[in-house]
Amino acid sequence: MPSLNPNCEECGLHATATTVCMRGDGPQTPEDVQVFVVGEAPGANEDKRGVPFVGESGKILRSELHKNKLIEKTYITNLVKCRPPNNRTPTAAEIKACRPYLEEEIARLKPGYVITAGVPATKTLFRGKAKITQFHGEIIENPKVSYVGMPIFHPAYTLRDPSKL
Ligand code: URA
Repeated sequence: MPSLNPNCEECGLHATATTVCMRGDGPQTPEDVQVFVVGEAPGANEDKRGVPFVGESGKILRSELHKNKLIEKTYITNLVKCRPPNNRTPTAAEIKACRPYLEEEIARLKPGYVITAGVPATKTLFRGKAKITQFHGEIIENPKVSYVGMPIFHPAYTLRDPSKL
């Protein structure tokens, strides 16, 4: 099991990233983490601060978690830990290179619920079986994993179309 490595060079993204958002934000022990949110990758604000979801998308995500009284029990992380140039979607190779870090976080924190925000995280964790347009907001159970899953639209998408919130 890899430990989170802020000096990771497993793919090319480290070369253009300012700060690696290796560690997720929120509680850091299994006793305190109930919900685990996986976004896509850091954007400009996250790249500056080294913390996932601290920009506009983060405001929406955190406000929804707060409304649902989940903010203090939620760990927030990303599928890919370095910002892709111009916020492009991470490639399959970049996602594959970073995946062990996500698996390490899940194994360490043992969340009961994993919320995948957006298409790349949903496709990766549910192996393309859960189409976001069909399953957003629904519980997905898989006997092969220890958590219950739930895909949601990415907050950046809901910024453009608030009806998707
Ligand atoms: N979008 C993401 O998917 N993750 C972030 O950390 C910020 C924006």
